[in-house]
Amino acid sequence: MKRNLTILGLESSCDDTAAAILRQSGDDQPVVLSSVVYGQTELHADFGGVVPEIAARAHAEKLDLCVEEALHRARLSLRDIDAIAVTAGPGLIGGVLAGVMCAKGLAAGAGLPLIGVNHLAGHALTPRLSDDLQYPYLMLLASGGHCQFLVVRDQDDFTRLGGTIDDAPGEAFDKTAHLLGLPQPGGPTVEAAAERGDEKRFDFPRPLLDRKGCDMSFSGLKTALLRARDALIQQQGGLRKQDVADLAASFQAAVRDVMVEKARRALRYFRDQTGANPSALAVAGGVAANRSIRAALEQLCESEGLRFTAPPLQYCTDNAAMIALAGLERYRAGQIDDMTLAARPRWPLDQTSAPMLGGGKKGAKA
Ligand code: KG4
Ligand code: ZN
Repeated sequence: MKRNLTILGLESSCDDTAAAILRQSGDDQPVVLSSVVYGQTELHADFGGVVPEIAARAHAEKLDLCVEEALHRARLSLRDIDAIAVTAGPGLIGGVLAGVMCAKGLAAGAGLPLIGVNHLAGHALTPRLSDDLQYPYLMLLASGGHCQFLVVRDQDDFTRLGGTIDDAPGEAFDKTAHLLGLPQPGGPTVEAAAERGDEKRFDFPRPLLDRKGCDMSFSGLKTALLRARDALIQQQGGLRKQDVADLAASFQAAVRDVMVEKARRALRYFRDQTGANPSALAVAGGVAANRSIRAALEQLCESEGLRFTAPPLQYCTDNAAMIALAGLERYRAGQIDDMTLAARPRWPLDQTSAPMLGGGKKGAKA
């Protein structure tokens, strides 16, 4: 096995087209040489969600450009690349197919090994991009299409301890933004509004806290917010800026409280299952960008004597550096694919756990 490896990663499973180049010298911490992300937010803005056909076409148009730009920024050519890693699922099938076809073309043309990566594994391994985090660790993966607690034992061994049974939290933030007239994506705009708000003004439910386990539910929260909003509109004829801020803050506090309590339980299950302490609680996915949620989880870790780690914000949301990293780890473990690599709309990380109920705005991914 070559000691120094340079991997090109591709990502196109939802509404971001991305390419990145990652290099690892020996056992050193891998270094991101370039990471290019073309978002599609404007393309879908009029439709209230990601339109799969529009997304797939945009990926097909942008992938080549992304690869060229990633190589250019890293001052490399395809000849310097050792393997190509690509998201092979789960996700919107048209986009995943566009990525897999592009990767196959590049791999065949340049005579390079091809590695299919699970998008969720990419997120789950992200903390190792910036940190020499040791296995096993506890991961809270929370984004627009998925939400789960995972025991991460290695690049290919994940046990799901629990997750959302309906909406993903990012989806709940997006719907909340929609209800409050804030721009999409909703996570950052709801968070910004919440900063000026009083989180105690509305007593929103903390769903499933009364139930054992670390499954979560976020769809009822959105209904409670809708009711509170409509009651205000009826009383005063509209929403004031402060109302929007207070609704946003109260909503965010409910999501945060549920996540922290469920993380406390997930930690207990982790210890029961493995008989050991995790090396850290790590978060990833777009919702991990939320400062209030991060701070609360950090505090939980402090009280449990546990390390807390979260990737830099640009690696929390969809990107290809995480796919290159997952590909690098698979390559080192000899997990290489060939031209029969298939694009998979569904691909649970933990093949042994029962499927989750419900689905996110981007399709139930796991
Ligand atoms: O991981 P990601 O980029 O895409 C996938 O869903 O795979 O996550 C995007 C989601 C969106 O729903 C967005 O509203 C949410 O993450 N998000 C946030 C924040 N930033 C992004 N949610 C809460 N607070 C944030 N600061
Ligand atoms: Zn994602």
